[in-house]
Amino acid sequence: MLPQFRRDPLTFVVQVAQRYDGLARLRIGPRDLLLVAHPEAMRHVLLERSRNYVKNYAALDSVLGQGLVSANGDQWLRQRRLMQPAFHHRQVAALADAMIDETAKLREGWRAAARAGRPLDIAEEMKQLTQAIIVRTMFSGSVGADGQRIADAFTTVLEVSERRNFQLVRLPERIPTPDNRRYAAAARFLEEKVYAIIAERQRSGEHHDDLLDMLLAARDAETGEGMSLKQIRDEVVTIYFAGHETTATVLTWTLHTLSRYPDVARRVRAEFAAALAGRDPGPADIAAMPYTRQVIDEVLRLFPPTWMVTRGAVADDEIAGHHIPAGAMVIVSPYATHRMPQFWPNPEGFDPERFAPEGAAGRHKFAYLPFISGPRKCIGDTFALVEMQLVLPMLLQHFELACIPGYMASPRAAGTLRPSGPVWMRAEAL
Ligand code: HEM
Repeated sequence: MLPQFRRDPLTFVVQVAQRYDGLARLRIGPRDLLLVAHPEAMRHVLLERSRNYVKNYAALDSVLGQGLVSANGDQWLRQRRLMQPAFHHRQVAALADAMIDETAKLREGWRAAARAGRPLDIAEEMKQLTQAIIVRTMFSGSVGADGQRIADAFTTVLEVSERRNFQLVRLPERIPTPDNRRYAAAARFLEEKVYAIIAERQRSGEHHDDLLDMLLAARDAETGEGMSLKQIRDEVVTIYFAGHETTATVLTWTLHTLSRYPDVARRVRAEFAAALAGRDPGPADIAAMPYTRQVIDEVLRLFPPTWMVTRGAVADDEIAGHHIPAGAMVIVSPYATHRMPQFWPNPEGFDPERFAPEGAAGRHKFAYLPFISGPRKCIGDTFALVEMQLVLPMLLQHFELACIPGYMASPRAAGTLRPSGPVWMRAEAL
C-alpha cells in the first residue's frame, strides 16, 4: 500500500474509496489506517463521535504551538469560543477594504505585465496576494517595511516543516543542517517580531480594527479572561498558516479552470457586469453574484485544498461494522468524498450547476466538505469566501487570462492541493 500511496496519493484515495464504498482499513508501513470518505462515516468521525477522533499534529507543534488548528479538548474549545466572534460575517466584512486594496496593488502589476506581453505565474501571484492580505488583515499598518520579511520568514518555516513531515527519517532540530538553521533563524525572527508588534499595540493602546486587535480584545464570556501572550502568538502564526495558501490554491484553480471553460467565464463576467458595471466590489455586492459562488463551490469540490486530514482514535469504536482500535489513525479525505459517483454523477466533470439551488437539493450533508464539518470546521470559511468573491471580480473585470498553449496545470497532493509547478498564463487587458 505504502508505495502506491506515496506515488500518487490522489488516485489512491479515490480508487480505494470507490472500491470499498468510502470506508477501508489499510496497512501503510507499520500502521493500521482507516480511510474515510463515505458521507455517513464522515458524519460519524467529524460530528457524532468527534470527541473520540482527535488531532495529532505534533510535527507542527514547534511552529503552531497550541493554536486552534493543533489544539485539542478543553483548550481548543476555550480558544474556539474566544476567537469565533472575530470570524463572524460582520467582522470579516470590516476587513474587506484591506482585501480590496491589496488586490488593486496586484492589478497594477498585471497591467504592466499585460502591456509587456509578460506571462504570469498565477500560482505565485495568488500566493503573494493572499499572503499580503493575511499580513495586512492581521497587523494592518503595524508591520511597516517588515511586511515582506515577515511573509518570507513564514514561508521558510512552513516549507521546512512540510519537508520534515514527508521525511521518513527525521534529524533532530538541534542538528545544524541547512534546513534546520534557516528554520531556526526564521522562527526566531517571527517570534521577536510578533511579540514586538503585540507589545507596541498594548503600549500605545491604538485601535486598528484588524485580527490582532480582535485577538487582544477577546474575552471568555464566563470568566472574562483574555488570552496569554503566548496564546496570541500561537494564534497569529496559526491563522497565517491556515489562512493564505489554502485560499491561494483555490483562486489559482478557479482562474485556470475558467480559462478552460469560456462559456462559464462569459457567464461569470456577465454577472459582474450586471452587479458592478466595472466598479470594484464591496462585501454588500457579494449577494448579487450567486453564479460566481457556484463556480467557487465547484472548484472547491474538485480541488479541496485540504485534500485529507488525519485524526487519532482515542478509544475503541466501530464504524459500519469495521472495528476501530484505540490509537488507529484515521485519514479523512474530502477529495475522495467529492469524487464518489453515487453522490456526484460524472465526478470529474466541472459543472457549477451542481451548486444551483435545485442541484444541491437533497444532497447528503456530509458529501461536500471543503472546510470539513462538525465542531472542527474551518473557522475562516467566511473570510476565505468573502476574499475570493472580492478578488475574482477585481481581476476578471479587467483581464482575460489565457493558458500558455501546451501547458496544463495538474494538482499535487502536498500540505495543500497545489499545482505541481508554476501556472503560466497570459493576461490581456479588457
Ligand atoms: C479556501 C480556503 C480554506 C479552506 C479550504 C480551509 C479548509 C480548512 C479545513 C479543511 C480545516 C480543518 C482542518 C482539520 O480538521 O485538520 C480548517 C481549519 C482551520 N482553518 Fe481553514 N480553510 C481555508 C481558509 C482559512 C482562512 C482564510 C483562515 C483564517 C483566516 C482559516 C483558518 C483556519 C483555522 C484557524 C482552522 C482550525 C479550526 C479549528 O480546529 O477550530 N482557514 N480549514
